[in-house]
Amino acid sequence: MFAIPVRPATEDDADAISALIQRTLRVSNAADYSVAEIGHVFTLFTPGRVEARIRRQDVFVAEIDGEIVATVGYEGGQLWALFVVPERQRLGLGTLLVQHIEDHARRRGARELGLSASLTGVEFYERLGYRRTAQRMHASGATYDMVKAL
Ligand SMILES: CC(C)(COP(=O)(O)OP(=O)(O)OC[C@H]1O[C@@H](n2cnc3c(N)ncnc32)[C@H](O)[C@@H]1OP(=O)(O)O)[C@@H](O)C(=O)NCCC(=O)NCCS
Repeated sequence: MFAIPVRPATEDDADAISALIQRTLRVSNAADYSVAEIGHVFTLFTPGRVEARIRRQDVFVAEIDGEIVATVGYEGGQLWALFVVPERQRLGLGTLLVQHIEDHARRRGARELGLSASLTGVEFYERLGYRRTAQRMHASGATYDMVKAL
């Protein structure tokens, strides 16, 4: 599993990343959020918005057999938008990408890594050593601010 390559995303990946995130929201996050909340998050990950993220953030993808199966971003000392396609969850890909961002942040001199966890992801992050610092309510539903010393 850990031989799976992780590479920086390019703007050409925007459509594939958008499709991956929107499908994962519909399948995996729908258990924890209302239709309206999921619909709101959908609008944050249209192909155009993903392309803008790729220009602004350090976005990475993991590929299996040429298909993008997971993605994550880094900006301003924070991990952003970690998504693993539903069929490939619980295989270690999420852990692989969190570790990739932790290494990326350390190389940039960061002493800690923050993130905003979905209700779907909070136990996953706790298992990786992140602790909850606050709960937030948005139009897109509840999230937890979490942090880990690097
Ligand atoms: C959360 C997510 C990124 C985890 O990715 P993943 O590749 O399935 O995670 P891993 O296989 O590395 O899991 C490592 C461990 O974390 C824990 N874990 C993973 N998903 C979990 C879940 N849904 N609930 C509770 N614990 C979970 C388990 O202990 C797991 O180990 P195990 O499979 O041996 O029991 C993935 O489920 C996902 O994309 N979810 C939907 C999008 C989302 O909510 N992302 C987070 C937004 S910030």
